[in-house]
Amino acid sequence: MRFFIDTASIEQIKEAHDLGILDGVTTNPSLMAKEGISGQANIKNHYAKICEIVEGDVSAEVISTDFEGIIAEGQVLADIAPNIVVKVPMIKEGVKAIKWFADHGIKTNCTLVFSAGQAILAAKAGASYISPFLGRIDDTNWDGVQLIHQIAEIYAIQGYDTEILAASIRNSRHIVQAAQSGADIVTCPLKAIVGLLNHPLTDIGLARFLTDHKNSNS
Ligand code: E4P
Repeated sequence: MRFFIDTASIEQIKEAHDLGILDGVTTNPSLMAKEGISGQANIKNHYAKICEIVEGDVSAEVISTDFEGIIAEGQVLADIAPNIVVKVPMIKEGVKAIKWFADHGIKTNCTLVFSAGQAILAAKAGASYISPFLGRIDDTNWDGVQLIHQIAEIYAIQGYDTEILAASIRNSRHIVQAAQSGADIVTCPLKAIVGLLNHPLTDIGLARFLTDHKNSNS
């Protein structure tokens, strides 16, 4: 399973990159707003900066909701760098646009996926990635992990090439569950990635090793 970071923060992208495990980045309009990035020129510059740090795919989301608007916006985004993936919402016009981008060699990430039916439609249209929102499904008392499982099973049976990018990850446990459910990629906040390091027995064990070493060398 590949690891993407779900942020527009350059600082956090650099930290995950320095850890040596970063395969890509996802952003959305809320994450860009959180970093105070607004206006077309600033948004383009920001994506260019991210693409300089990360070799892997960087999802850049359109804000248009009509076919022509999505295509125009997506082409501008795709021109920023070869590793930009156009992130398109799971709506009727979005599905049409995903097909158009696929036909024109532009990679897409179909976002806001909450059902297996939507995942089938996006794959049929030729999406490179689909983003099921695990955490937001859990928030409504449904089972986000189960959806990843179901989509993985369907894609395997049908032989779809579309990759499952588990999104809306809230904690380290979600990362493990996504891996176990057949997600190809997980996109997560830095805190959830770093949280994978934690185990109290590791801390206790290391402290004991260091103490024993110090005692035997004094
Ligand atoms: C990334 O592709 C999604 O936009 C993101 O994971 C959504 O996360 P959230 O539900 O925490 O906002």
